[in-house]
Amino acid sequence: MSINTNINGLPNIEDLQNLANELFSALPNEFPKEISLSPDKSEHPRATKIAETLLNAGNTESLSSFSEQSPLQVLSVPQSSFSGFGASPTAANYGNTASSSALYPNAGTGFSPQNEKFSYEVPKEETLNIDDPHTGFHDINLKNNSVPQLNEETFFSQFFLNNNYLPFQGGNSSFETELKAALESVDTHFKKRIDFPSSGSDLQNSYYFLEQNPFAFDQKNSSPIVGNSFNPKGIYGTSGPHFNADLVKKDFPILRETVNGKPLVWFDNAATTQKPQSVIDRIAYFYEHENSNIHRAAHELAARASDAYEAAREKVKAFLNAKSVNEIVFVRGATEGINLVAQSWGENNLVAGDEIIVSNLEHHANIVPWKRLADRKGLKLRVIPVDDDGQILLDEYVKLLNPKTRLVAFTQVSNALGTITPAKKIVELAHSAGAKVLIDGAQSVSHMKVDVQHLNPDWLVFSGHKLFGPTGIGALYGKEELLNEMEPYQSGGNMIQDVTFEEIKYHKAPNRFEAGTGNIADAIGLGAAIDYVTKLGIEAIGQYEHYLLEYATSLLKEIPGVRLIGTAKDKASVLSFTLQGYTNDQVGQALNKEGVAVRTGHHCAQPILRRMGVETTVRPSLAFYNTTQDVDTFIKTLWELKKVRF
Ligand code: ALA
Repeated sequence: MSINTNINGLPNIEDLQNLANELFSALPNEFPKEISLSPDKSEHPRATKIAETLLNAGNTESLSSFSEQSPLQVLSVPQSSFSGFGASPTAANYGNTASSSALYPNAGTGFSPQNEKFSYEVPKEETLNIDDPHTGFHDINLKNNSVPQLNEETFFSQFFLNNNYLPFQGGNSSFETELKAALESVDTHFKKRIDFPSSGSDLQNSYYFLEQNPFAFDQKNSSPIVGNSFNPKGIYGTSGPHFNADLVKKDFPILRETVNGKPLVWFDNAATTQKPQSVIDRIAYFYEHENSNIHRAAHELAARASDAYEAAREKVKAFLNAKSVNEIVFVRGATEGINLVAQSWGENNLVAGDEIIVSNLEHHANIVPWKRLADRKGLKLRVIPVDDDGQILLDEYVKLLNPKTRLVAFTQVSNALGTITPAKKIVELAHSAGAKVLIDGAQSVSHMKVDVQHLNPDWLVFSGHKLFGPTGIGALYGKEELLNEMEPYQSGGNMIQDVTFEEIKYHKAPNRFEAGTGNIADAIGLGAAIDYVTKLGIEAIGQYEHYLLEYATSLLKEIPGVRLIGTAKDKASVLSFTLQGYTNDQVGQALNKEGVAVRTGHHCAQPILRRMGVETTVRPSLAFYNTTQDVDTFIKTLWELKKVRF
């Protein structure tokens, strides 16, 4: 079959369609027998998806005008319509350099086919570097501050320049190979860049990333809350920047998913948080440009990987306001951090009769390691009680402290109830009794400023995946001197200074605790997550979330049959509850039908749930990308459930 080209020298859309159909009709089973580039529900879903993808990419085009265009022309979008997170304008610039003016009627004067790299006109006072990572949240470890992107050069070297022919026009490869290559480009390259906003307000907002901050300065509007745009009182006054959760949401690709045909509402943030594009890109960049083992070789990639890994440690240090990077040990997560302290310090420093205090609020991760140690060594495990709201009873805590108390291990925020504990006070009291202190920061670091010099614990742990970073990485903070006194936790390479069969010398912290090859890429991803959170501002995040939590709590309380579990005055993120007439799983399933993801169950914190008189709860947990609309969807579903059973 011959392929005609259009005036731009690109394949004719109808010929392309016919070729695709020819191939599909020869293929078995799931492939569509016929596709068209106009979506129609009666067609095969895959064909429809392809058509929709192409169509959406050029979302300003009508169906009829689209069909007359080159398949590549769909990538030409108005320059003002780049989405918040898709900061790169490169998608608009794919095309044939020779026919750029025809292909890019909207590309503006900044587009110059002669330039090796495109320049791109942006509104005054804003600059845009097309080599920047998508979100504009820069990572100083990116060697040239860039995430590799499909730009004109790479696109054409892939499909045109290397081969000297257009797809389907010749060359040595088979028709199927060429078609596959073309469809792959739809699946991999186009998809990444099709999220261009279409509404006017989106267009207006889409440059927030250039300020590297989702705050829109709004002098006129002095209300603290404008839709999901929230002006954190106390930081910026009444006319300062507004935290715009709708814009922030755009940085999180997974939040564009639908579940049961409904937009995903991610209310399971206490279990894990979603990842911004900058984190996803950073990890990909590592594997594309830096991957190597660290600290072990003189070659270029070893240097890149080691630099990026150690820079991530620096970011954790700054995030926690630790005194030195030597106080930051990369671990798998909060759980491993606690186990490290239990097995290294606890095993070697505690003796029978010593006492460990934990609180009634603890996650199993901050109970089980201590209980096991206590059982093994004859230690006493004592528990700080809570009141009926789920608040630590400080008076009772003081009574537990005595000269035998060697450790107080407690959470800063309860994962099951959301209670914020009086951490600084608990630490002070423990120290005055001569005990060491470990803070479980797994549920706090993403919601509030956690400053280890201010709180003054001996150790603090957190997990990267609850801080918008990857799974399998987290950090243990420990005071440097203390870490250097502690026995290694695991043994192997990387943690030693010198090995003979007679004697082994260990590195100092942190390396002495990082035996073997660690999770290099995800540590770097965690660094990018910290960059992201830091750009938003943890104080602003905390205030916005507080507003959202109050909003949700007030609505939830109005629903008859709802029992809130955990009603502390100071809370973060979590709304545990039960609904009369339904099991918690039934509520979870009903919410899931509406696209709302919540955790139901015991939340790995059975002692505190039993203290509150329940075995399980429904547990929505909020993060800064949640909005009042998300809360409304959640509340509406509960009202509908309530109507059925009462
Ligand atoms: N610790 C996590 C939670 O609370 C898994 O859900």
